Amino acid sequence: MATTWSDMKEEMMKKKKKKEGLGWIEWVRGWFYVVYEMLFQRMTARHLQNPMPLPPVNDLTCIVTGSTSGIGREIARQLAESGAHVVMAVRNTKAANELIQKWQNEWSGMGLPLNIEVMELDLLSLDSVVRFSEVWNAQLGPLHVLINNAGIFSIGEPQKFSKDGYEEHLQVNHLAPALLSVLLLPSLIRGSPSRIVNVNSVMHYVGFVDTDDMNVVSGKRKYTSLVGYSSSKLAQVMFSSVLHKRLPAEAGICVTCVSPGVVQTNVARDLPRIVQAGYRLIPYFIFSAQEGSRSALFAATDPHVPQYCQLLKSDDLPVCAFIPQDCNPTNPSEEAHNFETSHKVWEKTFEMIGLPSDAVERLIEGEEVACRYGSHRE
Ligand SMILES: NC(=O)c1ccc[n+]([C@@H]2O[C@H](COP(=O)([O-])OP(=O)(O)OC[C@H]3O[C@@H](n4cnc5c(N)ncnc54)[C@H](OP(=O)(O)O)[C@@H]3O)[C@@H](O)[C@H]2O)c1
Repeated sequence: MATTWSDMKEEMMKKKKKKEGLGWIEWVRGWFYVVYEMLFQRMTARHLQNPMPLPPVNDLTCIVTGSTSGIGREIARQLAESGAHVVMAVRNTKAANELIQKWQNEWSGMGLPLNIEVMELDLLSLDSVVRFSEVWNAQLGPLHVLINNAGIFSIGEPQKFSKDGYEEHLQVNHLAPALLSVLLLPSLIRGSPSRIVNVNSVMHYVGFVDTDDMNVVSGKRKYTSLVGYSSSKLAQVMFSSVLHKRLPAEAGICVTCVSPGVVQTNVARDLPRIVQAGYRLIPYFIFSAQEGSRSALFAATDPHVPQYCQLLKSDDLPVCAFIPQDCNPTNPSEEAHNFETSHKVWEKTFEMIGLPSDAVERLIEGEEVACRYGSHRE
């Protein structure tokens, strides 16, 4: 039967229609990755040592967000014990200072005292992110590694919003780390070659970002903590991919997202007690925090990672490096390759974090950039 003009038009309209969720094949594939990681992570990562031996890091200054517990705590301790200057960027400064005291005591007699300090950072407040960056940049020192580790997964909890008006998973897992990464670019350029490491998750494979409804409030999609978490992690991969492409090679900043695996940490603190108990009964499958810290430590220190990032930059692939729990770089989800959506996520993110859309280019040129958030608001 001959195809008429109106058939073709209808076909084109269908193709053009905005995607409103993952296709069922993408969805099944996504959950396959999640279950596969849960069941086989120990097998696929069996070639890795624990703790992971690190190359020399004595000359590195590293910021680790959310380092009072779980994976971030391990990352901070191991980097400091290997000789790096570590800054614990945390909301609970008292807990961080107590940890430092404990680590110094355990370390005494094993070498020079650990070079580790605490700075306050609350990702639920974009003012706090701007304040942190202003204090850091004012020191005019180099920053070699920024590890955006802090994150939340408020399992089973109702939808909550930050005082900035954003859904909390979106703010803590994506918006605030994005703002921090952009505002710290001047220090990362001073520390070049330098790295931004985002502790992401295999759950981004089941995430979907509706760029017209980043806060999941329109009612088009029913909000659950799973939707909040997986979309925020996918948004982070998409934003990181555009950042990776927009940073010129000469800036010497490599951007990666990593998946730590399924790790026994406080991230399950909101699960019902009975589920938490079950979680502890399956230690064979679940990584310890030390095992879960390996992909981020690899991305932060392995000498081959910058070269790999450069290769990706010159490649047609529209994504940044994604390093899973076995430290063998892989591709992020199919949806993360959606160039058009990634660019919309980039634009929306800049609107939401209160920066002009050309902030990255201007900061690279050495210009000052004003943010809607920060101390001047108070
Ligand atoms: N555990 C897993 O199986 C798993 C799997 C995939 C990805 N991840 C990712 O790994 C990262 C670390 O999580 P984890 O498992 O180690 O969880 P965790 O033990 O709960 O640690 C999360 C850290 O983030 C901090 N944090 C939370 N909200 C913050 C805020 N508003 N401002 C500043 N810091 C904040 C927490 O500080 P407080 O101590 O003050 O609450 C804590 O130090 C997260 O990005 C998570 O999504 C974890």
